[in-house]
Amino acid sequence: MEDGSLQFNRETIFALAAFFFAGMAQASGAGDPALGAAVFKKCQSCHQVGDRAKNRVGPQLNDIIGRTAGELAGAKYSKSMIQAGQDGLVWTEETLDRFLESPKSLVAKTRMSYRGLKDPDDRANLIAYLRAFSKGSTSAQNVPETGQGAGIQLDPVVLATVGDAEYGEYLSSECLTCHQSSGSNDGIPGITAWPTEDFVIAMHAYKQKVREHPVMQMMAGRLSDEEIAALASYFNGLE
Ligand code: HEC
Ligand code: HEC
Repeated sequence: MEDGSLQFNRETIFALAAFFFAGMAQASGAGDPALGAAVFKKCQSCHQVGDRAKNRVGPQLNDIIGRTAGELAGAKYSKSMIQAGQDGLVWTEETLDRFLESPKSLVAKTRMSYRGLKDPDDRANLIAYLRAFSKGSTSAQNVPETGQGAGIQLDPVVLATVGDAEYGEYLSSECLTCHQSSGSNDGIPGITAWPTEDFVIAMHAYKQKVREHPVMQMMAGRLSDEEIAALASYFNGLE
């Protein structure tokens, strides 16, 4: 019995030591926040950080390290993200690393339609960048901020245009060959009942090729600002 418990303790110590050194490596800057700022461009069509950060398609990411998944007030989450948080998922450097590598492998039915970041260095740099906007960090002033709609060029007038929902309905038939009017997220993301601004930003992100997806880039590329506003207004009104 004594032998058994001695062995257990020794293993625990090794595990703790490994954990400790891994933590040290990260804390001492395994990732470079300045390089991470460039990687964050991949996230900007949906997420913001910094003083003026707002929830957009995705929640704002200030203080993400230490935050429970799916719990930011005012952000729009999938049921499965909220459930993951209730089941104890907290964003640490480790859980972020896993999520960013492959979002759906950590939260199977997440609404975040992002394939994942395969390069471990990119992830480490990105996490170092996000850490700079998290509590207890003083380095936030040293990294570039992303303002509203960052990454895409969008005239405020375009963002504020109120679209004609009837015209949007007429245009929507081609969208509904893939997206479901029920708003279901089965494979292809649901696009109903979105705040119109988020919808407009998402479409322009494809149009300006800030957001990658060949089909959506082609679809959005064919649409004028008025047509995008009309679609935003129509889909916003669907249940
Ligand atoms: C296409 C839009 C989109 C892109 C691109 C995107 N995200 Fe997200 N992200 C979302 C959405 C939507 C959610 C909410 C997911 C849910 O509720 O299932 C989310 C959730 C998250 C969360 C969990 C937040 C919380 O409060 O629990 C983190 C962390 C995150 N994203 C980080 C990133 C990072 C870092 C990138 C860039 C590599 C990125 N995302 C790219 C849309 C996106
Ligand atoms: C051929 C199938 C197809 C058609 C047609 C199509 N889409 Fe998409 N759409 C997709 C896929 C797949 C995605 C997810 C792409 C990604 O991961 O970025 C998407 C993503 C989107 C998003 C972002 C969703 C999110 O969760 O971030 C919006 C908004 C959108 N589409 C609107 C439209 C509109 C409006 C039309 C019609 C003008 C349209 N789509 C036509 C397949 C399609």
